[in-house]
Amino acid sequence: MGLALAQKLSRAGDHVTVVGRDPEKLQRVRADCAGPDRPATIVTDITIEQEVEALFARCSQLDHIVCTAAEFTGAYARLPALDLAAARRAIESKIVGPIHIAKHGAPTLATGGSLTFVSGIAAYRPMPRGTVVATINAALEGLVRALAVELAPIRVNAVSPGWVDTPIWQVVAGEGKAEVLDGMAARLPVGRVGRPEDIADALAFVIGNGFTTGTVLHVEGGHRLV
Ligand SMILES: NC(=O)c1ccc[n+]([C@@H]2O[C@H](COP(=O)([O-])OP(=O)(O)OC[C@H]3O[C@@H](n4cnc5c(N)ncnc54)[C@H](OP(=O)(O)O)[C@@H]3O)[C@@H](O)[C@H]2O)c1
Repeated sequence: MGLALAQKLSRAGDHVTVVGRDPEKLQRVRADCAGPDRPATIVTDITIEQEVEALFARCSQLDHIVCTAAEFTGAYARLPALDLAAARRAIESKIVGPIHIAKHGAPTLATGGSLTFVSGIAAYRPMPRGTVVATINAALEGLVRALAVELAPIRVNAVSPGWVDTPIWQVVAGEGKAEVLDGMAARLPVGRVGRPEDIADALAFVIGNGFTTGTVLHVEGGHRLV
Protein backbone atom coordinates (compact mmCIF):
# COMPACT_ATOMS: atom_id res chain seq x y z
CA MET A 1 0.00 0.00 0.00
CA GLY A 2 2.85 2.35 0.82
CA LEU A 3 4.47 1.65 -2.54
CA ALA A 4 1.18 2.27 -4.40
CA LEU A 5 0.78 5.60 -2.61
CA ALA A 6 4.39 6.59 -3.31
CA GLN A 7 3.90 5.80 -7.00
CA LYS A 8 0.64 7.75 -7.17
CA LEU A 9 2.05 10.85 -5.44
CA SER A 10 5.35 10.74 -7.34
CA ARG A 11 3.46 10.58 -10.65
CA ALA A 12 1.49 13.65 -9.53
CA GLY A 13 4.77 15.53 -9.02
CA ASP A 14 4.86 15.43 -5.23
CA HIS A 15 8.19 15.04 -3.42
CA VAL A 16 7.96 11.69 -1.63
CA THR A 17 10.23 9.97 0.86
CA VAL A 18 9.63 6.29 1.53
CA VAL A 19 10.75 4.82 4.85
CA GLY A 20 11.21 1.19 5.86
CA ARG A 21 13.63 -1.17 7.61
CA ASP A 22 14.95 -3.12 4.63
CA PRO A 23 17.44 -1.26 2.38
CA GLU A 24 16.99 -3.77 -0.48
CA LYS A 25 13.23 -3.31 -0.46
CA LEU A 26 13.75 0.46 -0.56
CA GLN A 27 16.05 0.03 -3.59
CA ARG A 28 13.23 -1.83 -5.33
CA VAL A 29 10.82 1.00 -4.43
CA ARG A 30 13.13 3.44 -6.21
CA ALA A 31 13.27 1.14 -9.23
CA ASP A 32 9.47 0.73 -9.28
CA CYS A 33 8.99 4.49 -9.19
CA ALA A 34 11.35 5.22 -12.09
CA GLY A 35 11.11 8.74 -13.49
CA PRO A 36 12.17 12.26 -12.68
CA ASP A 37 10.13 12.36 -9.46
CA ARG A 38 11.51 9.11 -8.06
CA PRO A 39 11.06 9.08 -4.23
CA ALA A 40 13.89 9.46 -1.78
CA THR A 41 14.30 6.57 0.65
CA ILE A 42 15.47 6.43 4.26
CA VAL A 43 16.06 3.31 6.32
CA THR A 44 14.28 3.62 9.67
CA ASP A 45 12.64 1.23 12.10
CA ILE A 46 9.64 3.13 13.47
CA THR A 47 9.59 1.01 16.63
CA ILE A 48 12.88 2.61 17.74
CA GLU A 49 12.28 6.13 19.02
CA GLN A 50 15.84 7.38 18.41
CA GLU A 51 15.60 6.30 14.77
CA VAL A 52 12.29 8.12 14.32
CA GLU A 53 13.72 11.23 15.99
CA ALA A 54 16.75 11.09 13.67
CA LEU A 55 14.49 10.54 10.65
CA PHE A 56 12.50 13.71 11.24
CA ALA A 57 15.63 15.67 12.21
CA ARG A 58 16.82 15.02 8.61
CA CYS A 59 13.58 16.34 7.10
CA SER A 60 12.78 19.95 6.42
CA GLN A 61 9.15 21.00 6.66
CA LEU A 62 6.77 18.26 5.56
CA ASP A 63 3.25 18.60 4.19
CA HIS A 64 1.95 15.14 5.06
CA ILE A 65 3.02 11.94 6.84
CA VAL A 66 1.45 8.56 6.09
CA CYS A 67 2.27 5.39 8.01
CA THR A 68 1.39 1.99 6.49
CA ALA A 69 3.82 -0.10 8.56
CA ALA A 70 2.88 -3.41 10.16
CA GLU A 71 4.93 -6.37 11.36
CA PHE A 72 2.61 -9.29 12.06
CA THR A 73 5.00 -12.23 11.81
CA GLY A 74 3.87 -14.75 14.44
CA ALA A 75 0.99 -12.56 15.61
CA TYR A 76 -1.77 -14.58 13.90
CA ALA A 77 -2.46 -17.46 16.28
CA ARG A 78 -5.18 -18.83 18.50
CA LEU A 79 -4.58 -17.86 22.12
CA PRO A 80 -3.11 -21.14 23.37
CA ALA A 81 -0.41 -20.90 20.70
CA LEU A 82 0.04 -17.13 20.79
CA ASP A 83 3.67 -16.04 21.11
CA LEU A 84 3.48 -12.93 23.28
CA ALA A 85 6.82 -11.69 21.97
CA ALA A 86 5.34 -11.69 18.44
CA ALA A 87 2.22 -9.94 19.75
CA ARG A 88 4.41 -7.24 21.34
CA ARG A 89 6.35 -6.78 18.08
CA ALA A 90 3.04 -6.29 16.26
CA ILE A 91 1.88 -3.75 18.85
CA GLU A 92 5.23 -1.96 18.61
CA SER A 93 4.88 -1.73 14.81
CA LYS A 94 1.31 -0.42 14.65
CA ILE A 95 0.75 1.44 17.94
CA VAL A 96 4.10 2.45 19.44
CA GLY A 97 5.58 3.29 16.01
CA PRO A 98 2.69 5.64 15.18
CA ILE A 99 3.09 7.32 18.59
CA HIS A 100 6.80 7.86 17.81
CA ILE A 101 5.80 9.31 14.43
CA ALA A 102 3.21 11.63 15.96
CA LYS A 103 5.65 12.79 18.67
CA HIS A 104 8.58 13.54 16.38
CA GLY A 105 6.83 14.07 13.05
CA ALA A 106 4.05 16.48 14.01
CA PRO A 107 6.50 19.36 14.75
CA THR A 108 7.80 19.09 11.16
CA LEU A 109 4.37 19.48 9.56
CA ALA A 110 3.38 22.62 7.72
CA THR A 111 0.14 24.50 8.36
CA GLY A 112 -2.62 22.39 6.82
CA GLY A 113 -0.49 19.28 7.23
CA SER A 114 -1.78 15.84 8.10
CA LEU A 115 -0.90 12.53 9.67
CA THR A 116 -2.58 9.40 8.31
CA PHE A 117 -2.45 5.85 9.61
CA VAL A 118 -3.81 2.53 8.32
CA SER A 119 -6.04 0.48 10.63
CA GLY A 120 -8.04 -2.42 9.16
CA ILE A 121 -11.17 -4.55 8.86
CA ALA A 122 -10.01 -6.93 11.62
CA ALA A 123 -11.24 -4.38 14.15
CA TYR A 124 -14.79 -4.78 12.76
CA ARG A 125 -14.86 -8.38 11.49
CA PRO A 126 -12.49 -10.20 13.84
CA MET A 127 -11.61 -13.80 13.03
CA PRO A 128 -10.09 -16.62 15.05
CA ARG A 129 -6.27 -16.21 15.09
CA GLY A 130 -6.77 -12.47 14.61
CA THR A 131 -7.22 -11.28 18.20
CA VAL A 132 -3.98 -9.33 18.33
CA VAL A 133 -4.57 -7.65 14.96
CA ALA A 134 -8.19 -6.77 15.80
CA THR A 135 -7.03 -5.21 19.06
CA ILE A 136 -4.28 -3.24 17.37
CA ASN A 137 -6.51 -1.83 14.64
CA ALA A 138 -9.18 -0.76 17.12
CA ALA A 139 -6.54 0.86 19.35
CA LEU A 140 -5.00 2.69 16.41
CA GLU A 141 -8.37 4.25 15.60
CA GLY A 142 -8.61 5.46 19.22
CA LEU A 143 -5.14 6.96 18.86
CA VAL A 144 -6.21 8.75 15.67
CA ARG A 145 -9.16 10.41 17.40
CA ALA A 146 -7.02 11.48 20.37
CA LEU A 147 -4.27 12.87 18.13
CA ALA A 148 -6.81 14.76 15.99
CA VAL A 149 -7.78 16.68 19.13
CA GLU A 150 -4.31 17.07 20.66
CA LEU A 151 -2.43 17.99 17.48
CA ALA A 152 -5.11 20.24 15.91
CA PRO A 153 -5.01 22.03 13.51
CA ILE A 154 -2.89 19.19 12.11
CA ARG A 155 -5.40 16.71 10.71
CA VAL A 156 -5.11 13.08 11.81
CA ASN A 157 -7.03 10.26 10.12
CA ALA A 158 -7.04 6.53 9.43
CA VAL A 159 -7.90 4.54 6.36
CA SER A 160 -9.30 1.12 7.26
CA PRO A 161 -8.78 -1.36 4.42
CA GLY A 162 -10.57 -4.61 3.88
CA TRP A 163 -8.62 -7.54 2.46
CA VAL A 164 -6.08 -6.26 -0.04
CA ASP A 165 -3.72 -8.42 -2.08
CA THR A 166 -0.29 -7.37 -0.78
CA PRO A 167 2.81 -9.18 0.53
CA ILE A 168 1.41 -9.17 4.07
CA TRP A 169 -0.78 -12.14 3.05
CA GLN A 170 2.34 -14.32 2.88
CA VAL A 171 2.55 -13.79 6.64
CA VAL A 172 -1.18 -14.24 7.25
CA ALA A 173 -1.96 -17.21 4.98
CA GLY A 174 1.35 -18.46 3.53
CA GLU A 175 0.80 -21.00 0.74
CA GLY A 176 -2.97 -20.65 1.16
CA LYS A 177 -2.94 -16.97 0.16
CA ALA A 178 -4.63 -17.29 -3.27
CA GLU A 179 -7.37 -19.61 -1.99
CA VAL A 180 -8.14 -17.39 1.01
CA LEU A 181 -8.28 -14.20 -1.08
CA ASP A 182 -10.43 -15.87 -3.78
CA GLY A 183 -12.85 -17.02 -1.09
CA MET A 184 -13.19 -13.49 0.24
CA ALA A 185 -13.62 -12.06 -3.28
CA ALA A 186 -16.62 -14.34 -3.80
CA ARG A 187 -18.20 -13.10 -0.55
CA LEU A 188 -17.76 -9.38 -1.05
CA PRO A 189 -20.45 -7.21 -2.69
CA VAL A 190 -17.81 -5.84 -5.10
CA GLY A 191 -16.77 -9.36 -6.17
CA ARG A 192 -13.05 -8.88 -5.66
CA VAL A 193 -10.51 -8.19 -2.95
CA GLY A 194 -8.74 -4.86 -2.79
CA ARG A 195 -5.77 -3.68 -4.79
CA PRO A 196 -3.06 -1.50 -3.22
CA GLU A 197 -4.17 1.27 -5.60
CA ASP A 198 -7.67 1.28 -3.99
CA ILE A 199 -6.08 2.15 -0.67
CA ALA A 200 -3.64 4.63 -2.21
CA ASP A 201 -6.68 6.48 -3.63
CA ALA A 202 -8.27 6.64 -0.18
CA LEU A 203 -5.04 7.79 1.47
CA ALA A 204 -4.67 10.52 -1.14
CA PHE A 205 -8.23 11.66 -0.42
CA VAL A 206 -7.76 12.05 3.33
CA ILE A 207 -4.40 13.73 2.82
CA GLY A 208 -5.94 16.24 0.44
CA ASN A 209 -9.30 16.95 2.07
CA GLY A 210 -8.81 19.85 4.48
CA PHE A 211 -12.15 19.26 6.27
CA THR A 212 -11.40 15.67 7.26
CA THR A 213 -9.90 14.91 10.67
CA GLY A 214 -10.38 12.30 13.38
CA THR A 215 -12.01 10.12 10.72
CA VAL A 216 -11.74 6.45 9.78
CA LEU A 217 -12.35 6.00 6.06
CA HIS A 218 -13.44 2.42 5.30
CA VAL A 219 -12.30 1.03 1.96
CA GLU A 220 -13.29 -2.62 2.17
CA GLY A 221 -15.51 -3.62 -0.74
CA GLY A 222 -18.56 -3.95 1.54
CA HIS A 223 -16.82 -6.37 3.93
CA ARG A 224 -18.59 -4.95 6.98
CA LEU A 225 -21.96 -5.87 5.42
CA VAL A 226 -21.32 -9.56 4.83
N1 LIG B 1 -3.27 -6.22 3.09
C1 LIG B 1 -4.40 -6.32 3.77
O1 LIG B 1 -5.29 -7.15 3.45
C2 LIG B 1 -4.67 -5.40 4.93
C3 LIG B 1 -5.96 -5.40 5.49
C4 LIG B 1 -6.23 -4.52 6.53
C5 LIG B 1 -5.26 -3.68 7.02
N2 LIG B 1 -4.00 -3.73 6.47
C6 LIG B 1 -3.00 -2.81 7.00
O2 LIG B 1 -2.50 -2.02 5.96
C7 LIG B 1 -1.17 -1.57 6.26
C8 LIG B 1 -0.27 -1.84 5.06
O3 LIG B 1 -0.24 -3.22 4.86
P1 LIG B 1 0.30 -3.92 3.54
O4 LIG B 1 -0.71 -4.93 3.18
O5 LIG B 1 0.74 -2.89 2.56
O6 LIG B 1 1.54 -4.70 4.19
P2 LIG B 1 3.04 -4.94 3.65
O7 LIG B 1 3.06 -5.13 2.20
O8 LIG B 1 3.59 -6.01 4.54
O9 LIG B 1 3.75 -3.55 3.99
C9 LIG B 1 4.02 -3.16 5.30
C10 LIG B 1 5.35 -2.46 5.28
O10 LIG B 1 5.63 -2.01 6.61
C11 LIG B 1 7.04 -1.91 6.71
N3 LIG B 1 7.37 -2.04 8.13
C12 LIG B 1 7.02 -3.03 8.97
N4 LIG B 1 7.50 -2.79 10.19
C13 LIG B 1 8.18 -1.62 10.11
C14 LIG B 1 8.92 -0.86 11.04
N5 LIG B 1 9.06 -1.26 12.31
N6 LIG B 1 9.49 0.29 10.64
C15 LIG B 1 9.37 0.69 9.36
N7 LIG B 1 8.68 0.02 8.42
C16 LIG B 1 8.09 -1.13 8.81
C17 LIG B 1 7.58 -3.10 5.90
O11 LIG B 1 8.79 -2.76 5.22
P3 LIG B 1 10.22 -3.26 5.79
O12 LIG B 1 10.08 -4.73 6.01
O13 LIG B 1 11.19 -2.87 4.73
O14 LIG B 1 10.41 -2.50 7.05
C18 LIG B 1 6.48 -3.35 4.87
O15 LIG B 1 6.88 -3.02 3.56
C19 LIG B 1 -0.77 -2.34 7.53
O16 LIG B 1 -0.97 -1.50 8.64
C20 LIG B 1 -1.76 -3.49 7.57
O17 LIG B 1 -1.99 -3.96 8.88
C21 LIG B 1 -3.68 -4.56 5.45
